[in-house]
Amino acid sequence: MGIYMVLIGVQGAGKGTQAKFLVEKFGIPHVSTGDLFRAMKTQDTPLAREVQAIMNAGNLVPDDITNRMVEERLKEPDTQNGVIFDGYPRNVVQAEWLDKKLAERNQRIVIVPVLELDREIAIMRAEGRRYSQDKSRVYNIYFNQPLNKKDGVWVDDVDGQPLIQREDDYRESVEKRIDLYFKETVPLIEYYTVQGLVKKIDASQRIEAVAQSLIQAVEEAK
Ligand code: AP5
Ligand code: MG
Repeated sequence: MGIYMVLIGVQGAGKGTQAKFLVEKFGIPHVSTGDLFRAMKTQDTPLAREVQAIMNAGNLVPDDITNRMVEERLKEPDTQNGVIFDGYPRNVVQAEWLDKKLAERNQRIVIVPVLELDREIAIMRAEGRRYSQDKSRVYNIYFNQPLNKKDGVWVDDVDGQPLIQREDDYRESVEKRIDLYFKETVPLIEYYTVQGLVKKIDASQRIEAVAQSLIQAVEEAK
């Protein structure tokens, strides 16, 4: 059947952080629409420029562009046994589209973990987030600090290079994204609750404790 799951959670809840543990445990790919859009930044096309401007302002990319990107990703053979969707679907229109796409493949979502976190902590988690230059490691200057600073700047534990901040992680953009989450994405929780798929997880716990709760929930659902 395959383990198709949708991680829902406010900005900073830890969807990307936790997805890494789930990939390792269940051997299925992590599909983050945010990551896919950020990867477009290296392209210099009108579409890529439009997407970048939308993201930097903290707005949502239109549904048709987002759905088409996911459709392309789902053509890859690694998606046959399951997918960890992160940041997608983000509203009911996208959710209905995904249900239809999976049904065409005789697949369906088996669990929707909802990572619950207070708004104030969410703001700090997003504002404090820093990435290694190659984006493979994520830190937090408040909650998950790197080991060292060089000339007053936090540096990566592994390569010693300065850490970087996402363009949409500045306060104004973070607050806008969080407002949009409550307006557009929270109604999705009801959509999946009706289907009996929601599993609430306390995302304020330590990273490893959240991972443990999450893995247990998926084990029970699959
Ligand atoms: P996207 O990349 O999806 O960002 P997001 O939803 O805003 O979520 P975040 O990545 O901010 O949060 P996260 O839960 O992944 O947190 P993380 O694990 O990094 O979207 C970006 C943009 O792309 C959107 O604004 C939109 O423009 C566009 N987009 C994407 N998908 C779209 C869609 N479907 N439709 C339309 N537009 C779309 O953790 C955060 C920080 O907290 C890190 O520093 C981490 O170290 C720390 N941390 C995590 N867990 C813990 C813990 N348990 N304890 C302490 N610290 C922790
Ligand atoms: Mg993320």
